[in-house]
Amino acid sequence: MISRDLASLPRRDAYRILSSLVIPRPIAWITTVDEAGRVNLAPFSSFMGIFGPPMLAFTVSRRRDGSLKDTQRNLKANGQAVVHLADLPLLGPLHASGAEVEPDISEVARLGLATETSLLVAPPRLRDAPVALECRLNRELDLGPTTTLVLLDVVMAHAAERIWNAEHDCADASLWTPVVRLASVVGPNYGALGETFSLGPSELP
Ligand SMILES: Cc1cc2nc3c(=O)[nH]c(=O)nc-3n(C[C@H](O)[C@H](O)[C@H](O)COP(=O)(O)O)c2cc1C
Repeated sequence: MISRDLASLPRRDAYRILSSLVIPRPIAWITTVDEAGRVNLAPFSSFMGIFGPPMLAFTVSRRRDGSLKDTQRNLKANGQAVVHLADLPLLGPLHASGAEVEPDISEVARLGLATETSLLVAPPRLRDAPVALECRLNRELDLGPTTTLVLLDVVMAHAAERIWNAEHDCADASLWTPVVRLASVVGPNYGALGETFSLGPSELP
């Protein structure tokens, strides 16, 4: 067994190790809008769903120069976002949208992604994403000087008909291939849903 004391390591090293161990991670692909109505798009894989009240959580770090990323700045300003889950055909644009660009450049326009008006929030949703969750900011929690935990309330859920099971009124994981983040330094850095299983209720032998 290899053991590392993450608390005593520089943040960068702890990140490299922990992000190689906690895999696969779903990726929140988030649209927000700035005060001029420009649409921003960025991926975040420090991300989870919360299944008490319908919520999502992600963490956003500061840029190297200490400034806020556009996603966080926009959420602070207007508290609205659409969180998408992408499938394999969208992996290219999802990865490209992680490029750090000036706030006045819209990743959505640059990548030629089609959008639809959201029902309850100002940021548009990506037309071709299989899942789009309209969200409002619930709260932010600073985790030290460079990282903020963002909690979002999900106020409207959209899913493509092709992944929907009408009888059960929810999505069917066998109908799409959500992409996930793996390690960031060595080995494959993305994956897609591969082998899947259906087991009955949990029982001890
Ligand atoms: C797959 C992937 C996952 C990422 N996950 C995170 C993350 O969890 N937190 C974070 O702060 N940045 C993350 N990034 C980096 C941001 O996407 C990147 O800094 C982006 O430029 C931020 O854009 P914005 O300034 O438009 O918000 C990730 C990048 C990629 C490609």
